[in-house]
Amino acid sequence: MNLNIICALAENGAIGWQGKLLYYLPADLKHFKQLTTGHTVLMGRKTFESLPKGALPNRRNVVVTRQTDYTAPDIEVFHSLPEALEACGGDAEVFVIGGASVYAEAFQLARRLYLTHIHATPTQADTFFPACDLNDWVLEEEEHHAADERNEQPFTFACYRRKEV
Ligand SMILES: NC(=O)c1ccc[n+]([C@@H]2O[C@H](COP(=O)([O-])OP(=O)(O)OC[C@H]3O[C@@H](n4cnc5c(N)ncnc54)[C@H](OP(=O)(O)O)[C@@H]3O)[C@@H](O)[C@H]2O)c1
Repeated sequence: MNLNIICALAENGAIGWQGKLLYYLPADLKHFKQLTTGHTVLMGRKTFESLPKGALPNRRNVVVTRQTDYTAPDIEVFHSLPEALEACGGDAEVFVIGGASVYAEAFQLARRLYLTHIHATPTQADTFFPACDLNDWVLEEEEHHAADERNEQPFTFACYRRKEV
């Protein structure tokens, strides 16, 4: 199993505010869908509850929560990250899709980071990507996009692979 992290972050590392994403970037949503469809998405309970239509279609949806009685349609629930990862052991690609504490816990195990660097800084944010040193990672791909009529902020899709030790 390859463990990947996928996240859209602002220049100050912010990823969310009051349970929502900071920016509406349809191009990033499309990129997220292309990368994750057919694979497993692993997320914290709050990120799951932030999804507008519940479980993401055409993906195995894995949610971690400490609530022992938590259920929702079309998801699998686990009560720790190791337990969730063990259940996904046979899956080729697993994408950790947030939020902050799940990114932080999964970070040292991840092989690739798919980061959308949004070239903007929000005035308000309450959730941040964990501080990380990208020198430990090789930039494999980078694609810059200017703002346009549908995507208000400029952004860069980047893919980093962990350096071999
Ligand atoms: N920009 C992006 O790419 C991106 C991606 C994802 C999310 N977001 C944003 O981030 C915010 C949500 O993220 P968040 O950090 O607040 O919450 P979160 O990580 O999505 O969810 C936190 C919850 O997950 C459960 N959890 C976390 N670690 C666990 C563990 N080790 N074992 C068992 N359960 C665990 C707990 O649920 P219980 O409380 O139920 O026990 C915890 O309260 C929203 O604003 C969302 O829009 C942004």
